[in-house]
Amino acid sequence: MDTAQPSSVSSQTITFRIWRQDGPGGESHYDEFRIPYHKGANVVSCLMEIQRNPVTVQGKKVAPVVWDAACLEEVCGSCAMNINGRVRMACSALIDKLEQPITLEPLKKFPVIRDLTVNRDRMFEALKRVKAWIPVDGTHNLGPGPRQSPKDHATMYVLSTCITCGSCLEACPQVTLDNHFVGAAAISQARLFNMNPTGKLNAEERTRALMGPGGVQDCGKAQNCVKVCPKEIPLTSSIAAMNREVTKLVIKDLFFKDEESKGHSGPG
Ligand code: SF4
Ligand code: FES
Repeated sequence: MDTAQPSSVSSQTITFRIWRQDGPGGESHYDEFRIPYHKGANVVSCLMEIQRNPVTVQGKKVAPVVWDAACLEEVCGSCAMNINGRVRMACSALIDKLEQPITLEPLKKFPVIRDLTVNRDRMFEALKRVKAWIPVDGTHNLGPGPRQSPKDHATMYVLSTCITCGSCLEACPQVTLDNHFVGAAAISQARLFNMNPTGKLNAEERTRALMGPGGVQDCGKAQNCVKVCPKEIPLTSSIAAMNREVTKLVIKDLFFKDEESKGHSGPG
C-alpha cells in the first residue's frame, strides 16, 4: 500500500527487496539492498544506484539487477513491474509514496528473462492477431486523410495513448502464463483501428480475429484492467464495444448461413 512518507530507517535510506532470477524458469530469491535517501527519487533512479554498487544489506556483492526502461517518462511502457504487489511503471513510481521495504517483482503473466525483465511477446503477438495497424499502400504522399468527427477523434486519441506496458494483462485474472487470451490492450487497439476512417476498410478482419478462443468473449469482466492502466484508457468500454461488433458478426454469419442453406435446399 502507498504511504505519504518513507518509514523510520528510511528518513536517511531506502530499502529494497528485489526478485532475483538468473534465467527463464530458474530458481528465484530476493536480495535486499539499502541506498541513501534522495528526495524525489523514483524506482528506476534507485535501481540505477543499486546497479552502480550491487552489494546487499548483508554485505554480499551480487550480480547487478536487470530491468527494462527506456524513456523514463511513462511513454515506452518497458518498465512495468510489480511494486509492493501492484503493477505500475517504475519510472513514475515515486519513493516518497511507497511503503518500505519496497518490494520489486517482475510481471507474473509474462515469462521472466532475468530478474525484473520479462518477455512481452504475448502482447505483441496479440496486436498482430488483431492487425492493430492501417495497411499503407507504399510510402508516397497519400494526401489528407478522410475527415473525422471531433467526438470520434477525442475517443481515438485516448485509445492511441496505449504504451503496451502490459499492466492490463498483468492485472487480468483471465490471463495466465499458459493461455491465449489476447487481453484488454489488443482489444482496445482493434477498436481504435476499426474507428479510423481508413482502418474501417479492414474492420471485419480485425473483429473476426477477436472471435473464438482467446478472443474478446474470454473476458471475465473483472474490470481490473481499467484500474491499473497508467494511461487511464477506458478499456472496459473498448471491450464492450468490440463485444458488440463480434456479436453483430456472429448474427450476420448465422443469417448468411441460413440464406445459403435455403438457397441449396431450393428446387433443382
Ligand atoms: S491499455 Fe493501458 S495498461 Fe494496457 S498495455 Fe496499454 S497502456 Fe498498458
Ligand atoms: S521507462 Fe518508459 S515507461 Fe517507464
